[in-house]
Amino acid sequence: MTEPTHRNIRSFVLRKGRLTVAQQHALDELWPHYGIEKRETVLDFDDHFDRPAEVIVEIGFGNGESTWRMAQQEPEKNFIGIEVHEPGVGHLLMALEEHDIENVRIACEDAVPFLQNRIADGSLAGVRIYFADPWPKKRHHKRRIIQPAFVDHLARCMKSGGILHLATDWQPYAEHMLEVMQSSQDFTNLSPTGDYCDRPDWRPYTKYEDRGESLGHAVRDLLYQRS
Ligand SMILES: C[S@@+](CC[C@H](N)C(=O)[O-])C[C@H]1O[C@@H](n2cnc3c(N)ncnc32)[C@H](O)[C@@H]1O
Repeated sequence: MTEPTHRNIRSFVLRKGRLTVAQQHALDELWPHYGIEKRETVLDFDDHFDRPAEVIVEIGFGNGESTWRMAQQEPEKNFIGIEVHEPGVGHLLMALEEHDIENVRIACEDAVPFLQNRIADGSLAGVRIYFADPWPKKRHHKRRIIQPAFVDHLARCMKSGGILHLATDWQPYAEHMLEVMQSSQDFTNLSPTGDYCDRPDWRPYTKYEDRGESLGHAVRDLLYQRS
């Protein structure tokens, strides 16, 4: 297998996960309503949501458990969930229908070019990235999504005062996040101790968090405000 070149290093490997019948049905029936089609143009949020509201983006939502729960807890906001893994998208679509949630839209594509090409400057009130793939091997560290260039993209997309929330159960990745974020002029760490924050109430438990905790990993929350 060839290593990806610098230009196409991705933060994920697309697993060929099998779709259940129900997930396939959800993709067929519900995607036209909740899905954001792939395009090159900058998104107009009003084309996708029923009413104007602050927009929060969640990157790498997995099976979408955190996405629909946050959207239910924070009905005054609009959410865009981004995930490359289709079965996870199918899972979230089913949950949105089951719980009658209207303030979520989904992009099924790589979040990095999505943010770069489709999000207008200063248009996001928040970005949440929970349990991003930690890429523990040194030769894979370049695949970690939290990198200086990516943080610059986030800064461009976020409005002043917007909150970036990261969580991980992999201590070396938490330290990497701290280091990358400290080198950004655009964000202020909200931790009173200059590193990690207490877990905010708004972050629902996820499958990956449960797994991390059962392995004895401490979970780290990092909260930053866009200046
Ligand atoms: C370790 S899982 C965590 C899932 C979920 N946030 C949770 O806590 O259960 C990381 C997820 O991020 C997704 N992902 C990684 N890089 C991505 C990218 N560039 N764009 C969209 N999704 C991505 C992966 O497909 C995977 O589902």
